[in-house]
Amino acid sequence: MALLKIARMGHPVLLRPAAPIEDPTAEPVRRLIGHMQETMRDADGIGLAAPQVYQSLRLILFLDAEARDEAPGRAPVVLINPEIEPLDDTLELGLEGCLSIPGIRGLVPRHARIGYRGQAPDGQTIEREASGLHARVVQHELDHLNGILFPMRMPDLRQLAFESELRHLAAAVAQAAERAAGEPDAEPDTGEPEADR
Ligand code: NI
Repeated sequence: MALLKIARMGHPVLLRPAAPIEDPTAEPVRRLIGHMQETMRDADGIGLAAPQVYQSLRLILFLDAEARDEAPGRAPVVLINPEIEPLDDTLELGLEGCLSIPGIRGLVPRHARIGYRGQAPDGQTIEREASGLHARVVQHELDHLNGILFPMRMPDLRQLAFESELRHLAAAVAQAAERAAGEPDAEPDTGEPEADR
């Protein structure tokens, strides 16, 4: 295994649509997954997409809720050729970061509930539903496969900040929570960590 270099915002590999993987069980794919797992763990990330390690392929890794609770032996979900479908129209505003945009956080609207589907490394189909941070991370990682970085999803770039200045976003975070609480069935997602980190 090896640690891979992580591409930073500005590199064109992060802005290109990634190519489908024809054989999820192929040896080079298996190797890439191993390297990405180690790289994500080392960077303390909660998600990583292949374009972030300069491989323009439709492959993402992420920690789901259960995996996050099981640190340090946490094993990320590996999803090949993933697809997403929002389950309703509810959007939540939440904090995100990205290993390709170190030191920066922003408030990003995401679908609160999604279904996602893809292939596991053994070729089996994975099909699940997710909400909250789990849904947010999957949407963030899938965006990487379409050349989209989280600031490109932000309606208000005043809500983009260095980590050292995050306290100044507190008011916006609280407002988002209030709005979410006012909507039936919606849970505020103002929480802690953030996609990718
Ligand atoms: Ni990211």
